[in-house]
Amino acid sequence: MSHYLPLSRVARLVGQSRSALQRLIHDGQLATFDGMVDMNELLRVFPDVQWEEDGEFRRVEEIKANAFRKRVLDRVLPDKEVLAERLYEVGKEFAAAKALLLHYDEVFRFLADKLEDVAESGGATTQEAVAGVKHWLKHELDAAPQEAERAEQLLAQESVMRILSATVTVLPSGHEFFVEGNDTILEAALRAGIPLNYGCSNGNCGDCKVRLVSGQVKKVHPHDYVLKETEKAGGALLMCSYTAVSDVVIEAGVAGADDMPHQEIPTRVKAVEALNEQIVALHLTAPRSQRLRFLAGQRVILEAGGLRGEYPIASCPCEDRHIELHVRRDNRPFSRRVFEEMRKEDVVRVEGPAGTFVIKLDSRRPVVFVAWGEGFAPVKSLIQHAMSLEVAETMHLYWVDGDTGHYQDNLCRAWADAYDNFFYTPLSAGAGSANLVQAILAAHPDMTRCDLYAAAPEGLLTPLREAALSRRLSPLGWHDEVLSSASASISIASP
Ligand code: FES
Repeated sequence: MSHYLPLSRVARLVGQSRSALQRLIHDGQLATFDGMVDMNELLRVFPDVQWEEDGEFRRVEEIKANAFRKRVLDRVLPDKEVLAERLYEVGKEFAAAKALLLHYDEVFRFLADKLEDVAESGGATTQEAVAGVKHWLKHELDAAPQEAERAEQLLAQESVMRILSATVTVLPSGHEFFVEGNDTILEAALRAGIPLNYGCSNGNCGDCKVRLVSGQVKKVHPHDYVLKETEKAGGALLMCSYTAVSDVVIEAGVAGADDMPHQEIPTRVKAVEALNEQIVALHLTAPRSQRLRFLAGQRVILEAGGLRGEYPIASCPCEDRHIELHVRRDNRPFSRRVFEEMRKEDVVRVEGPAGTFVIKLDSRRPVVFVAWGEGFAPVKSLIQHAMSLEVAETMHLYWVDGDTGHYQDNLCRAWADAYDNFFYTPLSAGAGSANLVQAILAAHPDMTRCDLYAAAPEGLLTPLREAALSRRLSPLGWHDEVLSSASASISIASP
């Protein structure tokens, strides 16, 4: 009997990233059917996985250990009715499987009687053949328990996952994310960093309207926006009002840079963190009711005390209300204010976003990132977004120090340690542009399947682009952000 699981749940079960599984699929080592993995295939490809070690079981153990303390319940468990419906669905499947087993039992009994009849009415050869069939059947049935035990663990683990969370698949992009706790589909998508279209977040504008293709949903917040009867009949729903009860497939457009509305948001300074002598990380918190919509790699204008400055965002859109920016020490008034006067709880107005230096959300190819000095900020945002969405097959970061240094070198080394598809090469600007281009492209002789994102001065971008295109990088795979701050004016010495 086949039992199919979505790829994101398989990734959780086996403790691997989706991109690692995509590589196995690409290499023909893991078979899928319509993007789903058969349970028997999963048992075959991952014979050594210990299901009990999975985080979901640990979370259930945590609930038990904490005697269902409210804090844990709020974080882990969905709404009571959603929970009841999910349990009912799992119960229905269990009942159907049990009924099927009883039916098979009947068929086996019937078969045994028939074989006896055949043996009795036949000669010695027939009796010998029947004995052979019975022996084979007994052997096969006796041999089953070892694999059945693993299958049982897998099914138990998967059932716990399906009760605690549901998977949402977005068409046509193919993105997948989990709906956990009391989240609406919209909240879960934003937490996963998937920029689906929305507006008010509270059921008034209709901008988060999508079409339900399959699966079961439940309204958890009322909405004032009125859906037409024909829309409802076609499966339309508002993501900010509904949660997923079962695994669902929705048809929804993923927003691009042009779809981001212009916003003006009053934020509070959470921290001013010195990363080195030249750079501080400014951590801002958006109001609960007005988080900033942006795509990784975009810029915003900051305003405090009448002073303004434009900076790329260094954090991932999946970080909820947190916005991080890297401010360089220079003579610009806003920079001086940040370095000399800015304190926790100060108000900073954020305006934007702007810019098209954004990640291609549908690309699952190798990605090369190049950052120069504080050009690391937008690149960091892109990398964190790519990591959260697991969109890239491999990621290679080349960071040229400029005059700010590798001010988050430890973070990059930690990424390289934690992710087997992430590689980090720090470079020195003193090497000169020709040597830098050579060092960056040394490991990429053929860039046909790559995307290249570079935030650097023109002096590096121009030769890098030419060299990458000569290595068959598609012009559509080139994405750049010209560094316009003080470090951009540093001339790049040729070797
Ligand atoms: S975002 Fe406005 S109705 Fe959902």
